[in-house]
Amino acid sequence: MTENVQGSNTRFVHAGQAFEPVTGAVVPPLHFSTTYAPEAIGKLRSGYEYGRGGNPTRDALQEQLAAAEFGTHAFSFGSGLAAEDSLIRAILRPGDHIVLGNDAYGGTFRLIDRVLGGWGIGNTPVNMSDEASLAAAIEKNKAKLVWVETPSNPMMKITDIARVAEIAHAAGALLVVDNTFASPFLQQPLTLGADIVVHSTTKYIGGHSDVVGGAVIVKDDELAEKIGFIQFAVGAVSGPMDAFLTTRGLKTLGVRMRTHSENAAKVAAWLRDRKEVERVLYPGFEEHPGHEIAKKQMSGFGGMVSVQLAGGEAAARKIAESTRLFTLAESLGGIESLMNYPSEMTHASVKGTELAVPVNLLRLSVGIEDSADLIEDLERAFAGL
Ligand SMILES: Cc1ncc(COP(=O)(O)O)c(C=O)c1O
Repeated sequence: MTENVQGSNTRFVHAGQAFEPVTGAVVPPLHFSTTYAPEAIGKLRSGYEYGRGGNPTRDALQEQLAAAEFGTHAFSFGSGLAAEDSLIRAILRPGDHIVLGNDAYGGTFRLIDRVLGGWGIGNTPVNMSDEASLAAAIEKNKAKLVWVETPSNPMMKITDIARVAEIAHAAGALLVVDNTFASPFLQQPLTLGADIVVHSTTKYIGGHSDVVGGAVIVKDDELAEKIGFIQFAVGAVSGPMDAFLTTRGLKTLGVRMRTHSENAAKVAAWLRDRKEVERVLYPGFEEHPGHEIAKKQMSGFGGMVSVQLAGGEAAARKIAESTRLFTLAESLGGIESLMNYPSEMTHASVKGTELAVPVNLLRLSVGIEDSADLIEDLERAFAGL
């Protein structure tokens, strides 16, 4: 599929970003206007009428996102969860069912279970690596949607996208892949058989921890029409400034991901050698159960590393609160390194459920700082245990 197609970095920089023809401005202008004057009633000048329905800055981002993921259409939303909500409501109806990974992001599970569950959408969490259970869950519930996150947040599990696509399609279900952790630089699920890609663009695509956003990308006109209608009719769209910042972030995704990946590999290797560490969850290690699949479907292992501490919850909390360069905060994928304690922070909403996260686990979003400084920061924190 990628034959005769421009490389990732070229698409990230140029798709939807043609210079502005009147002034020649190389960066397309940011359009704040909420409304557009027609030539006459019913005769629009260039297709734009009202900002919820269309905005040139958002359109430029959507073109760039579609190209980034090898899709035909992309839709930009005010957050990752707004994107997921609009997607699900566009294609499911009360009585329909979703089979999702039992390690999906807590906020995704909360949306599907506690919000959409109230509107008649059923769900079954499964271990995506257990093909028989997956197929049985789809079959039993006549599921219309299979939802995969790979690598998953924060357990770093890897799912074989091509294989799950085959299983889903054989049962008549569509496959959604949340590609937030890998980013379109390292993995392109639509080329592996997925039908739909979702992103929290808040993370690697935005890349600078300064804009919340989400996206849905597809390669099918009929699906695109349904999602486009909900985007317009519900209106959870990204604003112009958010779209502009996300576009600016996506242009440098490739160079950032390379450094994130290099730094994460060094941090993971350093952690693995510590006696205070019980287990490092990093798909770049040969012993990681998903390593071979990750090698096959990703072009790098990314910037995320999770670690379980031998000293349990107390040790995890102590490290989380003692690093200096790794800032204790929610979110991930920005240029600065972040440390998260998922069981009380990002994944507090799934405590006590099948999706609960171990209390001795820390999630590191390894930034693009100098790796020696990051390791020194960790050394200092571990010395205090
Ligand atoms: C994998 C994943 N998907 C979706 C989301 C939701 O995105 P947002 O916070 O932009 O709504 C997140 C947020 O952390 C995430 O990590």
